[in-house]
Amino acid sequence: MTKFIFLILSVSILTLSSADAAIYKGQREFVKKCLKCHKSGQNFIATYKMKKWKKWMKKKGKPLANIHLKSKKAKKSWKYFKSKKYIKKSKHLRQFLVEYAKDSGNVPACN
Ligand code: HEC
Repeated sequence: MTKFIFLILSVSILTLSSADAAIYKGQREFVKKCLKCHKSGQNFIATYKMKKWKKWMKKKGKPLANIHLKSKKAKKSWKYFKSKKYIKKSKHLRQFLVEYAKDSGNVPACN
């Protein structure tokens, strides 16, 4: 029985920290790739609700990429949004963005 409780405990600690790691990776990606155009950072993320971010980050972030690829003003981001790197990081970005969306109740503990 003790063994069982211990197992549950360690599994939940593991899943918790891997979620945190993904959010952290997403944050790093956001700071590096998005902030130069969306300067308001956290405020920018909190402008939108979780549902909206989830929608934009569907299918490995395709809808979000399309918004940018359609806009000439966002031309400097095209290379990134077309890259494999973006597709790879989209999962982390999604976690980060949803975590700090308007209705999430979270405030990032950065800077
Ligand atoms: C080169 C500058 C640039 C970069 C880099 C960039 N964006 Fe944008 N983004 C724009 C512009 C310009 C628009 C407005 C597009 C339009 O409506 O014509 C936009 C629109 C958006 C929108 C839609 C807002 C709305 O109300 O429709 C979201 C969400 C968004 N960006 C998120 C991001 C995220 C997340 C990243 C990083 C992965 C990012 N952007 C990187 C320039 C950029």
